[in-house]
Amino acid sequence: MQFHILTIFPEMFKGFLNESILKKAQGKGVVDIQIHDIREYSKDKHKKTDDTPYGGGAGMVFTPQPLFDCIEDVKKMATKAPVIYLTPGGRRLTQAGVEHLNKKFTQLILLCGHYEGIDQRVIDELVDMEISIGDYVLSGGEIPAMVLVDAVSRLVPGALGNDESHMEESFTKKLGRKKEYPHYTKPADFRGFKVPDVLMGGNHAEIERWRKNHLR
Ligand code: ADE
Repeated sequence: MQFHILTIFPEMFKGFLNESILKKAQGKGVVDIQIHDIREYSKDKHKKTDDTPYGGGAGMVFTPQPLFDCIEDVKKMATKAPVIYLTPGGRRLTQAGVEHLNKKFTQLILLCGHYEGIDQRVIDELVDMEISIGDYVLSGGEIPAMVLVDAVSRLVPGALGNDESHMEESFTKKLGRKKEYPHYTKPADFRGFKVPDVLMGGNHAEIERWRKNHLR
């Protein structure tokens, strides 16, 4: 899976891309993440990417020129990718939606918004989907883009290093969300709080039954 992230804050992605599962997945070559700095596409002499809204009102709006040029350039490298605009007004991201993106596409272009929004002509001409990660307003689309990249990447075969993702899929289909049983690790007694005896007994059928009964 290849992600192209379009942002005016490329530095925000450094830590995120260089840790944990995403680092490993990129190392294995199953996930490829490329960051594109929208500001570099600005033809303004001060590299401006925003301006005041026509008709008045609060806040600033992304101007069309840097976004058109950036998206058109990235589309040359990601010819099969839909352009996804992260915005609180978009369709809410769910696990089913994440699975759909993972199954249907091998490349995704993620556009991180800012200010009051982006010029509508960008949405009309170039954006294929608008996605929100929840009903709250963040200061930009960068964290939502990270959420989407993380959720989709862990479903890419080979990214997690086991077959967990397939298991998860059937969970999601049946229940609408993943159900979990309680997990315990060492020590068996922590400050007097004890691990259930059955989990330490080694009777696999009993453990299986206990776990089934404690799904939540
Ligand atoms: N940009 C700002 N808030 C957002 C949200 N909740 N989801 C996606 N993009 C956003």
